[in-house]
Amino acid sequence: MDTTPEAITADVARKYQDYVNPTALNLLRLAGFDRVEHTGNGAIISDIEGNDYIDCLGGYGVFSLGHANEEIVDAVYAQLRQLPLSSKTFLNKPLADLAEQLAHLTPGNLQYSFFCNSGAEAVEGALKFARMATGRPAFISTHGSYHGKTLGALSASGRDKYKDPFRPLLETFNFVPFGDIAAMEAAMDHTIAAVILEPIQGENGIFVAPDGYIKAVRELCDRHGALLILDEVQTGLGRTGRLFACEHSGVTPDILTLAKALGGGVMPIGAIVGTKDVWDKVFTVNPYLHTSTFGGNQAACIAALKALEIIQRDDLVTRAEVAGERLMSGLRSVQVDFPGILVDVRGRGLMIGVEFADADVGKLVIGSLVKGGVVAAYTLNNPEVMRFEPPLIISDSQIDQVVCVFRDAILDVQQMLEEFGVV
Ligand SMILES: Cc1ncc(COP(=O)(O)O)c(C=O)c1O
Repeated sequence: MDTTPEAITADVARKYQDYVNPTALNLLRLAGFDRVEHTGNGAIISDIEGNDYIDCLGGYGVFSLGHANEEIVDAVYAQLRQLPLSSKTFLNKPLADLAEQLAHLTPGNLQYSFFCNSGAEAVEGALKFARMATGRPAFISTHGSYHGKTLGALSASGRDKYKDPFRPLLETFNFVPFGDIAAMEAAMDHTIAAVILEPIQGENGIFVAPDGYIKAVRELCDRHGALLILDEVQTGLGRTGRLFACEHSGVTPDILTLAKALGGGVMPIGAIVGTKDVWDKVFTVNPYLHTSTFGGNQAACIAALKALEIIQRDDLVTRAEVAGERLMSGLRSVQVDFPGILVDVRGRGLMIGVEFADADVGKLVIGSLVKGGVVAAYTLNNPEVMRFEPPLIISDSQIDQVVCVFRDAILDVQQMLEEFGVV
């Protein structure tokens, strides 16, 4: 058997072709991502052929602590040898410790946690809890929002392309433009269990909620007896320069959803954090009304506990803010030089979106970035916007390198377009 990196890459591609998803393979090929990932270390991913890439996609927000963080890997390894998964019969110490930590770290009166395995699952639970706690059926969500791809989370999401093939979904969602409080007020009535919002719309192209918007939504919910669910699956745990993005607006939701970075880039874990009031209404009569076999397993909770410890100890929240300013100003300097190609650079902390005048040009730039050793991707609901969500531990010199490679990639693509007479 040929064990050269090239042969392994060809073999993996063939298996994708025959057994995984041939269309996805084609797309990866077009973008230059048809290489086999092999190792991760800090902000760097290396492929099997030994090429290094600075990871500016960060697993859509998973790798806030970088790849294969040693302290987390060690903590998980020790737990794996001791008791990896819960028996589901006895009390689970890592789960209890993590719930206590989240109660201390989340704002306001958020107190109880339910653990699951992903962002979509956290959203599913949040929707169920809101219905149960209010006795109401309906929800308000926003155009372009992204909450996951299970049936409930998809119903809450605001892009028809991903929803239409699966209808009927939950048809009790009203969609309003993000940032438009008057539209939300018009959609609000006594049937609304909750409003579900991302404080910064991630997959819609990194749109920060306008000043005062989240607060106004909170007040609207309170006036009408509806709950506020803030989906911080992508914004949570320091990425935006606050531990939770809702802190930028001083608003506490009734239910907060977390996942992605919570597992420290080592284990999958999601969480629904809610108030005592919500928990009393959901779990008092039947404590097993909502359950998950793997949710809250010891290995995942240990990873999350270690991740929270490191984020606080190393003040990665401040680091995200400072590093975000450096990256943002670098990207803005590129925008100034290519105003016909880049129309906007926006975001908060290390959650940054770069908007292209043309989505196809953006795709070419992504391919050129990979060649230059930088991994980035466009946002799922808005192909005009490329997102930069590197690990919070990215160094200043890596940021400067990213900006440099980005500038070169745009120059490359501009020259190519000129050669073909497109511009
Ligand atoms: C805000 C938000 N909610 C939910 C999800 C779904 O998370 P998962 O892919 O872990 O199901 C995502 C994923 O990108 C997200 O960004």
